[in-house]
Amino acid sequence: MTGKEDFQARLTAVADATEAMLDKLLSASPLPGETFRPARFLAAMRYASLGGGKRLRPFLMVETARLFGIEGEGVLRAAAAVEMVHCYSLVHDDLPALDNDDLRRGRPTTHRAYDEATAILVGDGLLTYAFDVTADPASDSDPAIRAALVLALARAAGLGNMVGGQVLDLEAEAAAAPHTPEAVVMLQSMKTGALLRYAVEAGAILGRADAAAKAALSRYGQAIGAAFQVADDILDVEADEAALGKRAGKDADRNKATLVAALGLEAARARRDKLAEEAVAALAKFGETGAILREAARFAVARKN
Ligand code: IPE
Ligand code: IPE
Ligand code: MG
Ligand code: MG
Ligand code: MG
Repeated sequence: MTGKEDFQARLTAVADATEAMLDKLLSASPLPGETFRPARFLAAMRYASLGGGKRLRPFLMVETARLFGIEGEGVLRAAAAVEMVHCYSLVHDDLPALDNDDLRRGRPTTHRAYDEATAILVGDGLLTYAFDVTADPASDSDPAIRAALVLALARAAGLGNMVGGQVLDLEAEAAAAPHTPEAVVMLQSMKTGALLRYAVEAGAILGRADAAAKAALSRYGQAIGAAFQVADDILDVEADEAALGKRAGKDADRNKATLVAALGLEAARARRDKLAEEAVAALAKFGETGAILREAARFAVARKN
């Protein structure tokens, strides 16, 4: 029986392995074909991606691939890549033109620690590098698998999902009408859900999962992704800055389209917990081997930061 202790130990182990992979990928030595890695800029990319974060997306990818017996360097590269896309999204999300936040992962945001131009370019650098790392033959020996990962990552991160979701998030801030639950659910599935779902789907792609397993994992990824952002909205209301490592209470101030705003705190909590149960239920076919991912769904909603 997999319990919370096993889950925490695995989460820490995958976070450490992800950190080590990011550290290696963001070393000063240029790759074949690269000319030069500018030192201050490399330091800013490292600042934005090393030494913080729960590393939940890498965890979901690594543990999903592990369901199919796939482990090691290749998966960790793809996992570091999804974390790079996530870190880029945070750096840009915090910019003055977007959420205008000064604190992230308990430290000054990248544009605060460096400057705005650097932060914009750090995002560009991390996003581009994520595709480089995923497409590199070191990530999987099969070119068809690598191409499938690149396509799925681009779909999750681009205009019809993460970036589009950020656009809807900003548009909703300026809207005079109340936020409807339907609109909030859609924008959250785009801005946050899609990348979490990609992490799970990529694990299934690397694992050469069959269609039925892929479908079940996709349902899991969808549900955990939705639950995760509702939990983020609730934490913004319930937790403090010290626990979160980022400013609290910021969403209501900015008229953000959250499920707390659309439904109220009680109903948002109920929806969050129902989504986590949906994620757990989606893994039924995996039996005991799915236990760690079931714990991950519980963690996504019970977390304190
Ligand atoms: C925060 O994501 C932003 C959202 C998508 C809600 P995380 O809560 O995963 O942030 P880190 O990576 O642990 O800092
Ligand atoms: C961030 O959502 C989503 C992305 C970065 C794509 P939020 O704006 O709610 O995240 P926090 O609360 O700043 O971490
Ligand atoms: Mg935002
Ligand atoms: Mg934000
Ligand atoms: Mg938030």
